[in-house]
Amino acid sequence: MPAKTRLLTPDSEHIAYAAMMLAQGKLVAIPTETVYGLAADARNPTAVAGIYDAKSRPSFNPLIVHAPDLETAAQIGVIDGQAKRLAEAFWPGALTLVVPLREGAGIASLVTAGLGTVAIRVPAHQVAQDLLHAFGGVVAAPSANPSGRISPTTAAHVLAGLDGKLAAVLDAGPSPVGVESTIIGWQGGLPTLLRPGGIPAEAISNCLGQRLAMPAANVDAERPAAPGMLSSHYAPRANLRLNARTASPDEFLIGFGAVSGEATLSESGDLVEAAARLFDVLHIADATGRPIAIAPIPDHGMGRAINDRLRRAAAPR
Ligand code: TXA
Ligand code: MG
Repeated sequence: MPAKTRLLTPDSEHIAYAAMMLAQGKLVAIPTETVYGLAADARNPTAVAGIYDAKSRPSFNPLIVHAPDLETAAQIGVIDGQAKRLAEAFWPGALTLVVPLREGAGIASLVTAGLGTVAIRVPAHQVAQDLLHAFGGVVAAPSANPSGRISPTTAAHVLAGLDGKLAAVLDAGPSPVGVESTIIGWQGGLPTLLRPGGIPAEAISNCLGQRLAMPAANVDAERPAAPGMLSSHYAPRANLRLNARTASPDEFLIGFGAVSGEATLSESGDLVEAAARLFDVLHIADATGRPIAIAPIPDHGMGRAINDRLRRAAAPR
């Protein structure tokens, strides 16, 4: 963790520096037209785990991938039909689309929280655009505030909440829209308003010539009806036993620290590394078809988010 966060004017030299920080797996807060985002290389699992750590997120809600353009976005998610129509109408802009994840896109599984879908947005803000082009990749970026606090619309807000937890903030003044992007997904084949936001729902339904469906669960601003909040959002097929120090004969033991298993979240007991590996290791274990046992994970820092996800995965369904 860098000791000091640099506050940078968004000139080309500083944008190049911020892009270099991203390439090194560091966190950079970036202005977007909606709110400031806490960005990390979406293909670097440890960097993405760092986002959750910095925000002290108590759970792994999936994150939005920010791409420079539709073409790049379409390499990450399947954008066709209605999604393509919306992308062509509203990108770049304050619209996020939840679409099927493309195999081999290389996005860290922590970004999608192990789901088969991915949330993608092409931001319009010039500085976000310049940074994405300089970086040459895509970034995962939730709002740059500690979990449960108000979303930041200035660099000062970002520093007030997260100073010392990221490498740099690009300061481009207040975010012009000031609320998060509108999130649209498809549930039962219907375009669904997962989160109201910067683009009015009417504009979206007008574009599609169809009313938007409301998600099954309740919508509220801070906890949108996204799969991250469902209790068995990621559930392995087999039983999952928590706080295991040894495995019974048929179990696949996932280790942590001193408990070593067939796979480990982190041999050194590093919670950020464990978070970065969590969904990949669960998928590996699940693919064996055997019941899964998992070592105790300390319930502090990133361990809280890991345990939240494990409890949901172990919940009866
Ligand atoms: O305006 C914005 O959208 C800002 C700026 C920085 O781009 N970002 C933002 O990110 O608000 P965040 O992480 O605070 O909100 C992302 C939301 C989460 O509530 C999450 O549940 C939902 O997007 N989401 C992400 N991936 C999803 C998926 N695969 N399916 C459903 N919902 C998803
Ligand atoms: Mg947020």
